[in-house]
Amino acid sequence: MTDKKAHLTVDGLDAAIELPIYNSSTGPDVIDVTSITKNGFFTFDPGFMSTASCESKITFIDGDKGILLHRGYPIDQLADHSDYLETCYLLLNGELPNDTQKQEFTNAVKNHSAVDPSVAALIKTFKRDAHPMAILCSAVAALAAVYNEGLDITKEEDRKITAHRLIGQMPTLAAMVYKHSQGEEFIAPDSTLGYAENYLNMTFGKAGQAPKVSQVLAKAMDRIFILHADHEQNASTSTVRLSGSSGTNPFAAIAAGIATLWGPAHGGANEAVLKMLEEIGSVDNIDKFVAKAKDKNDPFRLMGFGHRVYKNFDPRAKVMKQTCDEVLAELGLENDPLLAIAKRLEKIALEDEYFIQKKLYPNVDFYSGIIMKAIGIPTEMFTVIFATGRAVGWYAHWDEMVSSAYKIGRPRQLYTGSVQRDYPSK
Ligand code: ACO
Repeated sequence: MTDKKAHLTVDGLDAAIELPIYNSSTGPDVIDVTSITKNGFFTFDPGFMSTASCESKITFIDGDKGILLHRGYPIDQLADHSDYLETCYLLLNGELPNDTQKQEFTNAVKNHSAVDPSVAALIKTFKRDAHPMAILCSAVAALAAVYNEGLDITKEEDRKITAHRLIGQMPTLAAMVYKHSQGEEFIAPDSTLGYAENYLNMTFGKAGQAPKVSQVLAKAMDRIFILHADHEQNASTSTVRLSGSSGTNPFAAIAAGIATLWGPAHGGANEAVLKMLEEIGSVDNIDKFVAKAKDKNDPFRLMGFGHRVYKNFDPRAKVMKQTCDEVLAELGLENDPLLAIAKRLEKIALEDEYFIQKKLYPNVDFYSGIIMKAIGIPTEMFTVIFATGRAVGWYAHWDEMVSSAYKIGRPRQLYTGSVQRDYPSK
């Protein structure tokens, strides 16, 4: 708490309401408004545009400066020097692991990567063309049925093993969802492979054949997982916290987060980028679509450009762009027609006065969509990959909440409906 106080004067109240102010380590300080209920008021903040819903030590974003820090480390440094499992350890534990800790964590995750047969059987019951996010959401909820009895979320040891199970099984489930859509046999996790490498093998490998995964593609996949690992109190993370605040099973809370991520305003944007590129269809049509995006009377927007929080650049997009170039070169896809549209669109938009003035830069989804398309991942699977990388962020926030003093989340409302009235007599 700071020495500073905020004072809220309200017409009709004799004295100002004194509100404590808490210091952040970086970024805006917050005004504690909890006491205003005593004066008969609630605060009103639809969309939580100015509400800090919790105290957290995990991730910091400064959208104006294009900064994203996990436990203080800039995202580009983590993408360059770390790998996904190390970043997971950092998010969960607050510090980077030493060699022994990293090995133990990696082994624990690998030891928990096989999915219970009941969940594998459940996945097989879905229609082959069901949306992969619907199947993933159900499969993760089903993990709550596997891991419920005996789970005590107040015990650190139980929470630790739950983290290993979740991080271990997300790529296995993601690959199973894909294999099911293709009508192919599931491939079991292989503990000799790296995390992203194992995911790619379970996705594109064939039963009975030795794994053969390109290291460039495995590195690209690992970076996609790192760049999606956490993004502080976004809609899906806030959902996991709110759901978890009732004391529910953590897999059930994560399933709620997956449901939230599915929406096109959140995790579904990378899917929208590819659909837009397909709609543009040819480099010759780009000018027409750019003009549509700039036309105030046309609702069309260039998908993959702009961001609610990042107004100068998306620090994740910078890293993604570099990975994108590496992947296209590895696959010899520099001349792919769809990717040619993407490259040309990026160039035109970056040089166009409208986009420069409105600070609309390509966001992480623009490049991640192109990379995943190049790797051969179908568009409908993009958000599943996002969910796989984000699982650790959801879990870290849930764990931070349940290991501290917390209350069940219960927002209030501005009621504007009918006042009390009597049921009409007949
Ligand atoms: N194409 C064309 N014009 C745009 C775009 C775009 N992609 N994005 C914003 N604008 C324009 C708006 O028309 C508006 O113009 P105006 O001031 O003349 O009315 C101005 O820029 C500001 O736009 P807002 O919608 O107010 O900006 P906001 O911060 O609310 O929206 C958002 C951010 C939703 C991401 C928006 O830029 C957008 O729709 N982008 C395309 C979808 C997308 O890529 N989403 C993924 C985000 S990344 C992620 O979620 C991981």
